Amino acid sequence: MSMDNHPLEETGRSTRNIDPCTVVIFGATGDLTGRKLAPAIYNLGREGLLPANFACVGFARREKTNEQFREELKTNINEHSRTKPIDDSFWKNFENQVFYHRSEFDSDEGYQALAELLKQIDAKHATRGNRVFYLSVQPKFFPIIIEKLAKNGLIYDTHKTTDQWSRVIIEKPFGHNASSAKELQANISKHLDESQIYRIDHYLGKETVQNLLVFRFANAIFESLWNYKHINQVQITVAEDIGIGTRGHFFEEEGLLRDVVQNHMMQLLSLVAMEPPVSLSAGAIRDEKVKVLQSIRPLTEEDFKSNVVRGQYGPGFINGQKTLGYREEKDVDPKSNIETFLALRLFIDNWRWAGVPFYLRGGKRLPKRGTEIAIVFNDAPGVLFKQNGRKNDPNVLAMRIQPDEGIAMKINCKVPGPSSPIQPVKMDFRYGSYFGQSPPEAYERLIWDCITGDSTLFARADEVEQSWKILTPLLDHWEKNPKSEFPNYAAGTWGPAAADEMIAKDNRSWRIL
Ligand code: BG6
Repeated sequence: MSMDNHPLEETGRSTRNIDPCTVVIFGATGDLTGRKLAPAIYNLGREGLLPANFACVGFARREKTNEQFREELKTNINEHSRTKPIDDSFWKNFENQVFYHRSEFDSDEGYQALAELLKQIDAKHATRGNRVFYLSVQPKFFPIIIEKLAKNGLIYDTHKTTDQWSRVIIEKPFGHNASSAKELQANISKHLDESQIYRIDHYLGKETVQNLLVFRFANAIFESLWNYKHINQVQITVAEDIGIGTRGHFFEEEGLLRDVVQNHMMQLLSLVAMEPPVSLSAGAIRDEKVKVLQSIRPLTEEDFKSNVVRGQYGPGFINGQKTLGYREEKDVDPKSNIETFLALRLFIDNWRWAGVPFYLRGGKRLPKRGTEIAIVFNDAPGVLFKQNGRKNDPNVLAMRIQPDEGIAMKINCKVPGPSSPIQPVKMDFRYGSYFGQSPPEAYERLIWDCITGDSTLFARADEVEQSWKILTPLLDHWEKNPKSEFPNYAAGTWGPAAADEMIAKDNRSWRIL
């Protein structure tokens, strides 16, 4: 498929060419593989979206046989797939295309053995030497895995090979801050051409996130309103009721900023704020997203004090269930300074967004799961319909990314009857009820895009770099100023009181989700 054909332009998935290939998952016994990758590959297979000649290899450090690995995947699919229970007749055949390979990440022998296994798979399953390497491992292993793959002949030189390809999907976070992201990029680009690198941010694979582009640029009515003249503020919320589960080690390294804000939230912000791209090609869309990030006003010392709030959850209740505080979670330092909540205000200093605050709020162990982008419009002139001197509510366009995917517009309406009070009401579009199905999982889409060679929904190096550029000064500031009052919010609440104070000082308030 040509790189200029954007997936959104196609009439159906079947229009793309799918080469035979093998997907190798590094970190195959990890949490992400069990919860997301295995169900995604299973669902792609079940829906006939994988190439006819396909195989999947799990690469990890634990001892395991093929049979044990297959059984484990089956259990995970049964538990986590969006389609349940597992389709036994499909799985019975499919599992014969699934293999396990045990190795350390830095062992040349292990990679030689992998090369041998892949050769055998090519011979048996006609996978023709095409490979996707999915790095679902701790970020510190990215460089060594890529180096070893290259050294052991598993990455093709794009200048020499034309009929076989190798692509590498790299999980986020890409780097730990601006300098380490640069270093990582420099390291991996010794072995990989940019066209072989797929930096995954699974938010971009969500249907509702892709719909942001369609919503903005396939509808004429919004564009003239989409700017500082009509928009008072934008709020982006990524709320989760879950804690960190079994990912204590990971979270202690990353924290919420690196885990969610630097990638998922900045992607949402870019898509909402970007200019119309010149075409729907991967390059054109990503060019516009980068421009947004380049226009974000750098955070100052004053912002660190007044326009950024970090939090960490203490014990509390979620849905009536008692839950642990972050510091009591498994593999977490009892004195940890890691943030599990972040609220911040950003400005985009370009013509379209001059003076419009973008409020970002994300956190673990909040009262409920909900990702939403809310565009809050300016007040209507308060000349006619004042109620007891009170202004009417502003119009709000709320794009619900998940759950209950949809788009709602809040408008003011006359309540029936002679006394005519005005009440805000909602026009609500819901994906589920309109299309009669819930959207496929983001990972399905992204794995499929990588197999078909489309990088539109993956992050480009300069996007990642820009995003780090904005947030690294904040990380540096935190490092110098550890928070002494952690934990500062109870699990099951909407974060520290300071987050409400932060927005209240601008005469605004967080939306209630
Ligand atoms: C992941 C983060 O990238 O996104 C997790 O590492 C987070 O901490 C998850 O829970 C949220 O994804 P989703 O699709 O459930 O919103």
